[in-house]
Amino acid sequence: MPGRDFLQIPGPTNVPDRVLRAMDRPIVDHRGPEFGSFVRGLLPDVARVFGTQRGHVVIFPTSGTGASEAALVNTLAPGDRVLAFDHGHFANQFTRTASNLGMRVEEVPVDWRRPIPADVVQGVLRGDAGRALRAVLVVHNETSTGVRNDIAAIRRAMDAAGSEALLIVDTVSSLASTEFRFDEWRVDVALTGSQKGLMLPPGLGLLCIGPRALAASERGGSPRSFFDWRPVLRENEAGFFPYTPATLTLYGLRAALDMLFEEGLPNVYARHRRLAGAVRAAARAWELDVYCVEEAACSDTLTAVVTPERVDSADVIRTARERFGLSLGGGLGKVKGTLLRIGHLGALNELEVLATIGGVEMALAESGVPVRLGSGAAAAEQALLAREAVTA
Ligand SMILES: Cc1ncc(COP(=O)(O)O)c(C=O)c1O
Repeated sequence: MPGRDFLQIPGPTNVPDRVLRAMDRPIVDHRGPEFGSFVRGLLPDVARVFGTQRGHVVIFPTSGTGASEAALVNTLAPGDRVLAFDHGHFANQFTRTASNLGMRVEEVPVDWRRPIPADVVQGVLRGDAGRALRAVLVVHNETSTGVRNDIAAIRRAMDAAGSEALLIVDTVSSLASTEFRFDEWRVDVALTGSQKGLMLPPGLGLLCIGPRALAASERGGSPRSFFDWRPVLRENEAGFFPYTPATLTLYGLRAALDMLFEEGLPNVYARHRRLAGAVRAAARAWELDVYCVEEAACSDTLTAVVTPERVDSADVIRTARERFGLSLGGGLGKVKGTLLRIGHLGALNELEVLATIGGVEMALAESGVPVRLGSGAAAAEQALLAREAVTA
């Protein structure tokens, strides 16, 4: 098919040409002085995106899943009790990773269509009489459902319960697209991958480590080797790594950060919010439900649309891919077959979103969903123009 493919899954996202060009360079000496000073300049800028001045950034050549394993093995030991939530596919995966590492996870079931209620968090922690829960695991933006959790509210609930547990947050599909305030929310570890808001190819796992998590890792943690962040932090001081880093991807990261700062982080977040609003307006025009039922908690980076009962969302996705070269996400875990996930994060503008909506609309119609052609696009256009009027 001529023209660009439309990769509108909720990550990996499209890599901007400027980032691709930054990575298209000869391999550098990762123990040379030039690379060292490059890395020393890079890490504080990653910290800016996490919203921290007191946190330390560590980058591993891995994926988001690897970064979550790194967060756990550095701060917790096998047998430690942790609190997690059955709140979506990636929350479940976080639980599984911790269980596989020998941690004893108390997984509390909550409604997948709403954010984790802060009073549930507070109630569980209050009931933890012996203060045995050592960490709370939360996914900021649940990519399988399009529900964003309120991390500030969860932190307040932990404080109200007098909990000393570490707050470990997966920001894989939110960081660099949705505001994250590591310091203000007193997050202990935040982790992400390179392939979503950071507009890079998959391959980097990035962590932000707060002082309490650092102290926990100095005192203990699990047996670990490659994912031990202590030697990385030590060598990073001079801009080096205790292994061969993904050098070219780090040059891509430099370009991606430059792009984010040139646009301005508040503008990046506002753009994502505006695009998300347009996609939800389209869903309303199609008379299809958005899976997230609380407007204020709807993700700015993806929208999960519920397909009618008789329609398997996998068929709509196949039609979109085969007929229009448009890649969309499907349902994961218990919502498989029922959701269509439209990614709207990373390097993306209004016209690209409108083209995506056009493609979804046609794929829905071709799959037998009675949508009025043009209705979603018209609603999205109106939403975009209305937002412009408000901000003009
Ligand atoms: C919220 C969330 N957590 C974790 C992961 C796993 O990350 P990775 O696939 O990079 O290992 C993903 C991937 O999409 C995700 O969206």
